[in-house]
Amino acid sequence: MRNSTRSGVDPFIVMDVMEAARRAEEAGRTIIHMEVGQPGTGAPQGATDALAKAMKEGPLGYTVALGLPALRQRIARMFGEWYNVDLNPERVVVTPGSSGGFLLAFTALFDSGDRVGIGAPGYPSYRQILKALGLVPVDLPTAPENRLQPVPSDFSGLDLQGLMVASPANPTGTMLDHTAMQALIGAAHEQGASFISDEIYHGLEYEAKAVTALEVTDECYVINSFSKYFSMTGWRVGWMVVPEDQVRVVERIAQNMFICAPHASQVAALAAMECEDELQANLDVYRANRALMLKGLPKAGFTNIAPPDGAFYVYADVSDLTHDSRSFAAEILEKAGVAVTPGLDFDPVRGHTTLRFSYARSTADIEEGLLRLQRFMAERSVSVG
Ligand SMILES: Cc1ncc(COP(=O)(O)O)c(C=O)c1O
Repeated sequence: MRNSTRSGVDPFIVMDVMEAARRAEEAGRTIIHMEVGQPGTGAPQGATDALAKAMKEGPLGYTVALGLPALRQRIARMFGEWYNVDLNPERVVVTPGSSGGFLLAFTALFDSGDRVGIGAPGYPSYRQILKALGLVPVDLPTAPENRLQPVPSDFSGLDLQGLMVASPANPTGTMLDHTAMQALIGAAHEQGASFISDEIYHGLEYEAKAVTALEVTDECYVINSFSKYFSMTGWRVGWMVVPEDQVRVVERIAQNMFICAPHASQVAALAAMECEDELQANLDVYRANRALMLKGLPKAGFTNIAPPDGAFYVYADVSDLTHDSRSFAAEILEKAGVAVTPGLDFDPVRGHTTLRFSYARSTADIEEGLLRLQRFMAERSVSVG
């Protein structure tokens, strides 16, 4: 059967790493997982308790397309608590994960052939979803001196219809401060480009609080999720905040594309928002892991890293060690028993010389992984040099 040209999207290379790690585990090896971008913890206890209760009480059928009103209200309240932003709950759309939010946003905002700027390195699915929708992803190669975040000069004159940013970002964990966010939004609007802010790693910050695009303007789409801070990846629930005059447009698309986000997950998500103690305890683990990584990676020989402000990743320039990150990652898995992600997923051009390390798992795993990396690199430098 014939396929559309739109459907020719690239695979997620990290999935290949995960499969290789799984095979090694099947063969009896213990592998330390620094490749996966998800918490090792499950949904907070309060979330699963609330769902167990709701399952006894009712059928959990469809919700309205925009999501449970109580959840939309609670999310709006959170914007007050986290950022001091007064948000009308009517502007909140509950989505099937932030991935569902991307589909809704890109469909609502752009026509076929429209050009959308994305930072490179960046989360790979932006590029693939844009392509699958017949849109044109425009990679904006970012500079180390800008901590691998885009700046206005990266897209001046590029005739973009959209600009998508993430702060904290995947794979770097770097953030945009208020001034940087304001500059990007201003430059995007000057060019007539719609601004989309992926805020999925908000809540996972270590030095300063992340800035929401809504602190700068209401003329933007903000996309977020319960996957990371709330530790609910597989529940497939997230949210989007859109300008008031966009709500009905998004609602009509959501009704047709998804009907609604999973009802059970919405119930759990609402309860998860009251589980601050457990979520902060998870954050304490990431904070400890981050400190270990920032000490242990350079000790192993991965010296070229931008200290991450948030999320749970470290992105390393390994151009002094390899020009083939894919085979380097395979060698690390094979010889050190540590799964890491080659940068190619995030930057098709410069990713040949970068690796992403995730520190989302337990502190014991991170300690063991760093020891293994240090041993492997010491042996490698003897055999290479
Ligand atoms: C930057 C970024 N945005 C979005 C997603 C997708 O998350 P969700 O589970 O909400 O669909 C991820 C997943 O890793 C991510 O890293």
